[in-house]
Amino acid sequence: MQSAHIPVLVNEVLSFLPSQGLVVDGTLGGGGHSQAILEHNSAIRVIGIDRDPKAPGQELAQKSEPWSQRFNWLHGSYADLPALLAEAELNQVKLVLLDLGFSSIQLSEPDRGIAFSQPGLLDMRYDQSDLSLRTAADIINTASRHELERILIEYGEERQAKKIVSHLLEHRKKNNVRTTTQLKEFIAELLPAPKRKGIHPATKTFQALRIAVNNELGELSTFLHHVVPALPKGATIMIISFHSLEDRLVKQAWRNYSLLQKDGETLEPLLKVLTKKPIKATETEVRANIRSRSAKMRVAVRI
Ligand SMILES: C[S@@+](CC[C@H](N)C(=O)[O-])C[C@H]1O[C@@H](n2cnc3c(N)ncnc32)[C@H](O)[C@@H]1O
Repeated sequence: MQSAHIPVLVNEVLSFLPSQGLVVDGTLGGGGHSQAILEHNSAIRVIGIDRDPKAPGQELAQKSEPWSQRFNWLHGSYADLPALLAEAELNQVKLVLLDLGFSSIQLSEPDRGIAFSQPGLLDMRYDQSDLSLRTAADIINTASRHELERILIEYGEERQAKKIVSHLLEHRKKNNVRTTTQLKEFIAELLPAPKRKGIHPATKTFQALRIAVNNELGELSTFLHHVVPALPKGATIMIISFHSLEDRLVKQAWRNYSLLQKDGETLEPLLKVLTKKPIKATETEVRANIRSRSAKMRVAVRI
């Protein structure tokens, strides 16, 4: 069964909207943010982009609502924004929103094999039609010790990475790990239950694999290094992240792009940062939507 996706920080997103013009929702997902933006301001047009060809938000274009006329959707990665839009269109962009990670809808689909709470084949690709990507099962069953350790350490910050990988290499000599349940149980048998209640010992491994399968940090880095400089002056960039690895990349990029001086040299800054500290969900929002608890939004303007 599909779970609905509740968009996070909606009021905060709306408070940064331009008075008119083109908004790019680079992570369309269920279309929650796009719909809120379209309903909020009739002078705004939205282009929604998603790597997942099945992103349900694309249906906004078919709704019999007056605002659906102002919505279009494109299949692709936000990291390829300059190639996805015509040059004239790129120059009109007033705001880009990224709301990173998986939607609740994707997490609840067993055939995607993303979450350990959903039995299913270990796949984890945003775009299951993309045969160039390895699935999580491919990585688990074929990657080298070195690569597996790197994935668990870098993307999961998993302290028990070496232990997990050593046991996994032994295990896979006889049995491949094919399903979310097999991986979850394999790790649960290996690691003691963590002290924090409610956190499963496989949480970090699953996070690391999701990031590795989809090259998530690479996509975000490409956006920060190549797309941000290509955006027109005056464009607002809003990024909502859900874990420290992503937030760190955004924070560093914001800092580097807003420097006025480095090593005694005067620089021409590319961004003005509007959020010294990240914006977080209010207690009321966290009570209504637990996923918003870890959301951090950073906003900057291209100058
Ligand atoms: C958290 S959800 C967005 C939810 C959306 N804001 C809403 O209100 O329904 C993130 C979405 O981004 C998509 N996504 C992840 N990486 C992407 C990328 N590099 N380019 C485009 N979409 C991506 C995922 O497929 C997912 O649908």
